[in-house]
Amino acid sequence: MKIKFALAKGRVAKKAIALLESIGYVFPDYSSESRKLVFTDSTGSIEFFLVKSPDVGTYVEKGAADIGIVGRDVLMEHPVNVYELLNLNIGKCKMCVAGYADFKPTFGKKIVVGTKYPNIAKQYFNRKNQPVDLIKINGSVELAPIIGLSDCIVDIVESGNTLYENGLTVLNEICDISSRLIVNRVSLKTKDAILNPIIDRFKSEELDLN
Ligand code: PRP
Repeated sequence: MKIKFALAKGRVAKKAIALLESIGYVFPDYSSESRKLVFTDSTGSIEFFLVKSPDVGTYVEKGAADIGIVGRDVLMEHPVNVYELLNLNIGKCKMCVAGYADFKPTFGKKIVVGTKYPNIAKQYFNRKNQPVDLIKINGSVELAPIIGLSDCIVDIVESGNTLYENGLTVLNEICDISSRLIVNRVSLKTKDAILNPIIDRFKSEELDLN
C-alpha cells in the first residue's frame, strides 16, 4: 500500500521534504529545480506530488491524496472536508491588512481592498463593520496600493521585506498562519497502519522545525 502525499509548490515544500527525509524517507529523484511533479521514495511506500497550494485540500478531500501539507491561509480561504491533524509550525507568517502608513479609512465609507484572499478579507472587514470593495489579485499584491488599484491589501507577511521594500507597512494583523498536516477522512481509517507512524513522526518533530 502506497501513501500519496500532496505538497504545495513553493517555500514550504522544501521544508516539508526535508522533514520527510528527517523521518527516513529518501527521494532520490527530487531536486528543487526539477520540473518533475511526482517523486517516490526509495522504498516505494510514499509518493509525493507538487500542486498549487489551493489544490492541496482538493486532492486530499477527494482522496486523490491521502495526506497533505497546506497553509492555514489556504484552508481558511477554501475550506475543505478533511481532518486537520497537526499544526506543523513551519511556513509561519501572519495574515495582515497592509498599505501606506498614513492610510485611514473614512468612517462609513467603502475602502477598496486588493487581495489573494477575498473570503478571509470579507470576513475580517464584516467583523469590523467596515464596508469594502474587494478586488481579487493573483500575485504581487503589494502593487495594488502603489499603482492605485486599491486603498490597502490583505495578504500574508512573512519577513516583512516585500512591504518594506515597497514603502508599505502592516496596518492590522488578522491572524497567525502556519502549515497544517491534513488527512483524507477515509484514508485515516483504511490506511491507518501506514499513516499513523508517519503522523506520529510528524507529531514528534512538530515543535523543532524552525
Ligand atoms: C507572498 C505574499 C507577499 C510576500 C510576503 O508572495 O503574497 O507578497 O510573499 O513575504 P515577505 O513578508 O517575506 O516579503 P509570494 O512570494 O508567494 O509571491 P506572489 O506575490 O507571486 O504571490
